[in-house]
Amino acid sequence: MQLEHLHIGNFRKIATAEIHPSPGLNFFFGKNGSGKTSLLEAIYLLHAGKSFRAKNPSELISLNEDTLAVSGVVSNNNSERTEIRVIKRKESSRYTVNDRNISSASQLATALPMLLINSDSFDVINGSSRIRRSIIDRTLFHVEPTYLEFLIKFNKATKQRTHLLRVRASLSELAYWDNEFTSNGLRVHHARLDCVQHLNQKLNERNLHLSYVPGWKQDLGLEEAIVQDRDKDFATGRISSGPHKAEVLIEIDQKPASKFASRGQIKTAVFLIMDAVSAYIVERRGWTPIFLIDDVSAELDADSQSLVLNFIANTRAQAFITALTDRDFKLPKESFPSKIFHVEHGIVQTCQP
Ligand SMILES: Nc1ncnc2c1ncn2[C@@H]1O[C@H](COP(=O)(O)OP(=O)(O)O)[C@@H](O)[C@H]1O
Ligand SMILES: [Mg+2]
Repeated sequence: MQLEHLHIGNFRKIATAEIHPSPGLNFFFGKNGSGKTSLLEAIYLLHAGKSFRAKNPSELISLNEDTLAVSGVVSNNNSERTEIRVIKRKESSRYTVNDRNISSASQLATALPMLLINSDSFDVINGSSRIRRSIIDRTLFHVEPTYLEFLIKFNKATKQRTHLLRVRASLSELAYWDNEFTSNGLRVHHARLDCVQHLNQKLNERNLHLSYVPGWKQDLGLEEAIVQDRDKDFATGRISSGPHKAEVLIEIDQKPASKFASRGQIKTAVFLIMDAVSAYIVERRGWTPIFLIDDVSAELDADSQSLVLNFIANTRAQAFITALTDRDFKLPKESFPSKIFHVEHGIVQTCQP
């Protein structure tokens, strides 16, 4: 997949920007506060319908304006074009794909798959298990169109059961949600196991390994586990067993990354995991997701950077990468299509090659 054309209007500091990106690597450099992260945020809006950093969507609209608009033309491997548009006012959002209104932002992600790497991505090793599970869940969202449906049903059942346990509902009131929890939970569980196994095929070549630890004792079925936990769960008002408790352990050189890896190793590992995710999506769906990488120079030393950029270039993915200066871009050795843009005071300009 690639973004062929991008138009941004009234997005934070960017009053207007029109970009014809390279199908390969696109580098954006400029001083702090010039609007580089905002530019990636605007591109991400076409994928998610929301920002990766703003809590309040109205923050995104330029000061003294009431509407922002971002639109992009995306083409797939068969050169079929799709136009995606996101318009946000203070109280409302509108998403269109080829001029047709769509109701849910998750449909945008299908039209324009993206993988974002920014400083938050590195929390994956030392942050909560939810962050690690979400890498697997996001991968599955892209490779398995029905996965989101099971995950939403499972999350709903988890919420309903927790509520019923807290109000000490009767077993007959619980029965329906017990069944929703276990049936959808097992689908989530098996899909995640399969996903981790696929990612490992590529990661193991790079001395990385993911282990999926299910959130319940494996000598029991999930149905049995929740029956065994019944008294405890009523007492605590929490569900102690299930895929919502699963953990994804990350090992580098056969050692747990959370205990032994340096910050630099963690960063490289995160990029390699994203690269494996991208390769798996390509294998299953036939299209490459677009990479957004914020502040690459702050996050990786020169050697790791050229390693990572070479991987991205080899997957033939389109990437949007920001850094403080153009000296920070370590272009892959092989010639690969790329463009450099300068960002200053919210104005984005193409640099001559
Ligand atoms: N809604 C907004 N309207 C106008 N300017 C904004 C808005 N939101 C943020 N900014 C400005 O954008 C700048 C930050 O841009 P950012 O994309 O984070 O820069 P960079 O990533 O290049 O450091 C700050 O100067 C901030 O004041
Ligand atoms: Mg920034």
